[in-house]
Amino acid sequence: NVLILDFGSQYTQLIARRVRELNIFCEIFPYNQPPANLKDFKAVILSGSPFSVRADDAPHPDLSEIRGKVPLLAVCYGAQYLAHFNGGEVAPSNIREYGRANLSYLKENEAFLANIPANSQVWMSHSDTIKSLPTNGVRLASTHDVENAAYRIEGEQTYAIQFHPEVYHSTDGMQMLKNFLVDIAKIEQSFTPNAFVEEIVAELQTKIGSDRVVLGLSGGVDSTVAAVLLHKAIGKNLYCIFVNNGLLRKNEFENVLKQYEHMGLNVKGVDASAQFLDALARISEPEAKRKAIGRVFIEVFDQEAHKIEDVTWLAQGTIYPDVIESISVKGPSATIKSHHNVGGLPDYMKLKIVEPLRMLFKDEVRRVGKTLGIDAALLGRHPFPGPGLSIRILGDITREKVTLLQEVDAIFIDGLKSWGLYDSVWQAGAILLPVNSVGVMGDERTYEKVVALRAVQSTDGMTADWVHLPYDFLMKISNEIINKVKGVNRVVYDISSKPPATIEWE
Ligand code: XMP
Repeated sequence: NVLILDFGSQYTQLIARRVRELNIFCEIFPYNQPPANLKDFKAVILSGSPFSVRADDAPHPDLSEIRGKVPLLAVCYGAQYLAHFNGGEVAPSNIREYGRANLSYLKENEAFLANIPANSQVWMSHSDTIKSLPTNGVRLASTHDVENAAYRIEGEQTYAIQFHPEVYHSTDGMQMLKNFLVDIAKIEQSFTPNAFVEEIVAELQTKIGSDRVVLGLSGGVDSTVAAVLLHKAIGKNLYCIFVNNGLLRKNEFENVLKQYEHMGLNVKGVDASAQFLDALARISEPEAKRKAIGRVFIEVFDQEAHKIEDVTWLAQGTIYPDVIESISVKGPSATIKSHHNVGGLPDYMKLKIVEPLRMLFKDEVRRVGKTLGIDAALLGRHPFPGPGLSIRILGDITREKVTLLQEVDAIFIDGLKSWGLYDSVWQAGAILLPVNSVGVMGDERTYEKVVALRAVQSTDGMTADWVHLPYDFLMKISNEIINKVKGVNRVVYDISSKPPATIEWE
């Protein structure tokens, strides 16, 4: 449908999400690995980039197949790129242009600017500026500091904007994208959750036929939605495995298993707690914990999968950000935490991979889940890391510590729910610190554990802010934890944002 050519901007995924919010399907490709069928797209959007068009190593894609033939919207770097190589001039600007600006000039009677109010706020983020427009360029908008904030090419459906319509601070950005995609490129807004379900179910049926599929359920949103979609497509040929690694929340294994059975899924619950806890004994280093858990998970899953006769497919709950990450323009960045270790399976299993959600963003997975009739409480669950409580118990892990943390976590999470705070928090949990502190209970001196509570706001886990939970709530929860959980005499609240901290402590 719509192609987004990525030049490595931090906002590229956001462009895709905005286009999808308009119920229009789009795909991101790196500029240096474009799809073969360029001309088949109904519109193309060029993203921003950390490069300057004047740099020798700047992205320099060949657009001749689409220029003037397919509606084109060039954002930021894209706008400079079109200008620089087509008779315009791009130069370093005297002032750095970052942040809010207002469109003080808007050309009249332009379809691209329909319903954009005077002085509309836009978000700028660039250090080069377009000094003069490319051949046949027509200025559409200016701000106080940026004369050529938007332009089009006469005789083509080519539009270019210096600001970022995709970010929240560009107040009318969505309207602009809609003007371009719906009114100018004439694209239908037909990519709805219902349409997706219909299409993907048919696709899965053709692909899988009467083969058998195995899928690892985690209790999380992605694997659950993937399972329900597959179940709709192939029914009893879907075999789900839900492994208890002994590091889940209190009663989680039993509760979620029951929920899955109610949904009609064929799920085998495997309690491998002992195996995981044995493998984790005396391990304190976070990455070593992740490795141990990943290894045991594969052993357990492999063993169970082999019990299913004639299984030929492995289903995974991979979602679009993971796919984009693996093909992204940027070079390999330093591994801060090896998140995707759990669930990767060795080649020797020789299973074909099916990933029903690989084209969806997280919020779309939730909407599809809703369309499929999955319980809202299940869809609204906070993210929970694969290694579970093991990375929230700093230092080595014992059964007693797991039980203690499960109790603390349950008080915190139940409290958030009963105070109506759960849904406004992106993720929350408790961390068991490896220190004791002195306290006093009655007339007795105590020397017991400290727990930290963490609650964050985020959209994708990449950045996060601590949540300003009400003091009354924190007071109540702290009392309840100290009174009810034996072995804890102190509660602290984590007030660090990401970056520079991370969401988990390990
Ligand atoms: P950080 O701590 O990196 O976490 O800010 C970002 C998000 O990722 C989750 N997380 C993990 N998920 N395996 C997972 O499946 C892991 O090893 C892992 N480590 C962190 C974390 O809970 C948060 O949602």
